[in-house]
Amino acid sequence: MVKLNENYFNLKESYLFSTTARKIREYAAANPLKPVIRMGIGDVTIPLSKTVADAIARAGAGMATKEGFHGYGDEQGEGFLQEAIRAYYLSNAGVELNKNEIFVSDGAKSDVANFTDLFSNDNVIVIPDPVYPVYLDSNMMLGRKITLIDGNEENGFLPLPYEGLEGDIVYLCSPNNPTGAVYDREGLEKWVDFANEKGMLILFDAAYEAFVSDSSLPHSIFEIEGAKKCAVEFCSLSKTAGFTGTRCGYTVVPEDIVIGGRSLNKMWLRRQTTKYNGTSYVIQKGAEAVFSPEGMAECRKNIAYYKENARIMADTLTKMGIWFTGGVNSPYIWLKCGMDSWEFFDMLLNEIQVAGTPGSGFGKCGEGYFRLTAFNTHENTREAMSRFEKLLAGK
Ligand code: MLT
Repeated sequence: MVKLNENYFNLKESYLFSTTARKIREYAAANPLKPVIRMGIGDVTIPLSKTVADAIARAGAGMATKEGFHGYGDEQGEGFLQEAIRAYYLSNAGVELNKNEIFVSDGAKSDVANFTDLFSNDNVIVIPDPVYPVYLDSNMMLGRKITLIDGNEENGFLPLPYEGLEGDIVYLCSPNNPTGAVYDREGLEKWVDFANEKGMLILFDAAYEAFVSDSSLPHSIFEIEGAKKCAVEFCSLSKTAGFTGTRCGYTVVPEDIVIGGRSLNKMWLRRQTTKYNGTSYVIQKGAEAVFSPEGMAECRKNIAYYKENARIMADTLTKMGIWFTGGVNSPYIWLKCGMDSWEFFDMLLNEIQVAGTPGSGFGKCGEGYFRLTAFNTHENTREAMSRFEKLLAGK
């Protein structure tokens, strides 16, 4: 008789973004004359940069030739892309990496979830609340003990370690999904020092680092002294270069992390070589082009466009006196809606056809808050905020 993983029965019935997508789909089907402005899931809308698309097209065409054809690649990623990522870390964050520390993948979400393979189920997992649901769900699937640490207005939704906090592995995301809040160096130093002192491992999600424009804020946890002994970093081209549908990310596992005499880097290599056959060669050529001067300039232009949307949203909320975080160094705005966040979701969808994401979907501390994304067009963002202002002024 087949025995199921009963830990799945403890999960919410469906993944947050599947639930919101279903509600939006149902509304759109019932109201075809009322188009919805989508500011919910953080999906990009600007097409790929031309430099990147050309590189993918060239590599794709090459696959039909004897010289340009590629079969299985290196499971850890093609050398040319590892080298491009290594150079990017140096120029973007002043961080020196060895090529062997960089693992190319199909995105940060799968790596973050798959990385749980390396740890015993006895570990206590520390997760900030609110949080990107993958950290919690992927550990719940394994029945692990989870300690939630509260993010709130008092700590700016950037919880810090505290005396008495017990745990083995902690997830941090900065710029944060969902709140858009960003740890400064001092905050990350506190986490790195705490982790090194207690023998904890930090799993750091840097998927939104390209949105950081304040030069005092870190792009990578490895900018912090001691982080290479206690942190693994996940990053993705989804938001940096519009790869949500193209799929490519990378994970940095420092060679310095040794736990119980075992190298975490070697363990991840062992896991990837067994369970992953590598990211498509064609896509890796596109990813390499992201890091070229032309590709990066085009991607930065797109990010600046999204950040202008964040500014439009932030200006409206400031004018209306609504409390929020994010927006400046992040594509997410996290606002205080002051009511049940699913009711707020329904109200915006039904009354002004604006779709966002309810804060409580990211955890209990998200109740009473709401997330909007900056990934729509300027026109739609302005229209959404004008409807938002009228709606709330009338309440
Ligand atoms: C989000 O909306 O939180 C993100 O798009 C989800 C993701 O990157 O997987």
